[in-house]
Amino acid sequence: MADLDDIRDGKEYGLGIEQKNEKYFLKGSANLNWGMKDRLSRIFNPKTGNSVMLAFDHGFLMGPTSGLERIDLTITPLMKYADCLMCARGVLTALVPTTLRKPVCLRSDAGSTILTEMNHNVVMDVKNAVALNASAMAVMVGIGDPTCEAETVANLYRTVDAAQPYGIPVMGVTAVGKDMVRDARYFGLAARVCAENGANIVKTYYTEGFEKVVACCPVPIVIAGGKKLPELEALELAYKAIQSGAAGVDMGRNVFQSDAPAAIIQAIGAVVHKGMKPAEALQMFNDLKK
Ligand code: 5RP
Repeated sequence: MADLDDIRDGKEYGLGIEQKNEKYFLKGSANLNWGMKDRLSRIFNPKTGNSVMLAFDHGFLMGPTSGLERIDLTITPLMKYADCLMCARGVLTALVPTTLRKPVCLRSDAGSTILTEMNHNVVMDVKNAVALNASAMAVMVGIGDPTCEAETVANLYRTVDAAQPYGIPVMGVTAVGKDMVRDARYFGLAARVCAENGANIVKTYYTEGFEKVVACCPVPIVIAGGKKLPELEALELAYKAIQSGAAGVDMGRNVFQSDAPAAIIQAIGAVVHKGMKPAEALQMFNDLKK
């Protein structure tokens, strides 16, 4: 029997005081279930609404690209500076310390490499994402690519169906086909299609007129960094994206291919979370680099 010794009646009912109800901080996420919101709150900092995601999933299609030859040597020391890690399950299981306690946005599709065109990507079983304690599942979507658009949109759709009952948010990653014009019209369409099909986060690329891409996408957008840029340009990219309403960055090469990856990820963090201007962030980078 339960211990009934010294059970005290409640006294502080706060009568007349309205119960505090949470107003959820992330765009388009207020009606999600508790598990989804909890996971999204691990990815995005509730104080700033933004996230610095460190992407090192490139190997799933690029193999050992520069900076990712030895994840344990180059990426593990950076993990503590990221709000969220984005990687594929093989690297997660083999190399990401289980004691790190960082949320993981799990690359959840596979099927293409850089040796071929994007083709028949498949999506992992959601139970494996649950077993890996994923805070989100990321799936590539090739909008406008006649060889894979239908299949990748269906992948996103099915992943949302599978992940929702487990409270796992899905990130739609917009892959730009070779023939696509990288403008706000295209990215606005791609982002919106991801969101309409159930993506809780959209990952896309910054472009001129990005505020329109953000405005017509009902869920948070994070930007990829793309190819390695000089540090000031990478900081300007992050700054312009945040000023246009992005909820963060999901950067890879501009971090791990930098001469000073730990310094650049911290400087990017200052831009993303404090709105630090690029010149000041570059100064921070140079100081940390020393
Ligand atoms: C590819 C991805 C990569 O993670 C993404 O491109 C981010 O890396 P980078 O900043 O190097 O572009 O999602 O589909």
